[in-house]
Amino acid sequence: MMILFNEDLVSRDEATIDIEDRGYQFGDGVYEVIRIYHGVFFELEAHLDRLERSASEIKIAFPFSREDLKANLEKLIEKEPVQSGHVYMQLTRGVAPRNHPFPEKADPVFVAYTKEYEKEPSRAPGRAVFTDDIRWLRCDIKSLNLLGNVLAKQFANDQNVEEAIFHRGEWITEGSSTNVFIVKNKTLYTHPANHLILNGITRRVVLSIAKDLGVKVKEEAFTKQDLLDSDEVFISSTTQEVRPIVVVDGVRISDGKEGEITASLHAKFAGRLS
Ligand SMILES: Cc1ncc(COP(=O)(O)O)c(C=O)c1O
Repeated sequence: MMILFNEDLVSRDEATIDIEDRGYQFGDGVYEVIRIYHGVFFELEAHLDRLERSASEIKIAFPFSREDLKANLEKLIEKEPVQSGHVYMQLTRGVAPRNHPFPEKADPVFVAYTKEYEKEPSRAPGRAVFTDDIRWLRCDIKSLNLLGNVLAKQFANDQNVEEAIFHRGEWITEGSSTNVFIVKNKTLYTHPANHLILNGITRRVVLSIAKDLGVKVKEEAFTKQDLLDSDEVFISSTTQEVRPIVVVDGVRISDGKEGEITASLHAKFAGRLS
């Protein structure tokens, strides 16, 4: 397996991470996951914009030009061709003696590698549970610090459901690795893109498709009760696309089937991939 390690393509064994890499010790870095459909990156520019923004928000100087990074990613998928899968990439602040403040001198460390899916991720109607959003207040940064998300996903796994839906007080924010949408009276609601959620690339595609389809959209927070009383619930992410959620905390949403608007948003989404 070949890895893009900074600017070089190396085998996995050659890509060694120092024990004092700040990503390893502090989670001091950012990442992205970009879906590959038919061998082509989906929404590449949007993901690279977000990667650069995340890095800039935590004051890591982005070490490559956009053109160089794109050329290197192309080299990576030439070496490791992927039909349907994704590329994972992360950038850390670099290696320095362990100390909380930023090191005076450290070169950021970049790693990217691909994964071919053995089977397409399921988008069968799923179930979810609510969980307290105990994360920090900069969820707009796609940071390597994922412990709150990891604990939430494990909480969902332990209950044999697919996703954990975060709430702060009564207000829904997002899923442990997805954005959350509800439909009520033909209007689509999702949390506004502020510091409490990651502004998902899929979320943005879904919102633009909704507008194309003439679905009324409100980027407004909604409560747990609003969600339980809604007509449709779905989650969105790079790997799960648009996935209906039909049971939350053991409560059936509407008739317990994928809703009409969810289905039409996904159909149109799928249409953009071919
Ligand atoms: C917390 C969180 N919210 C939302 C998303 C969805 O983002 P995207 O559509 O860009 O994959 C993710 C994806 O990993 C995530 O981790």
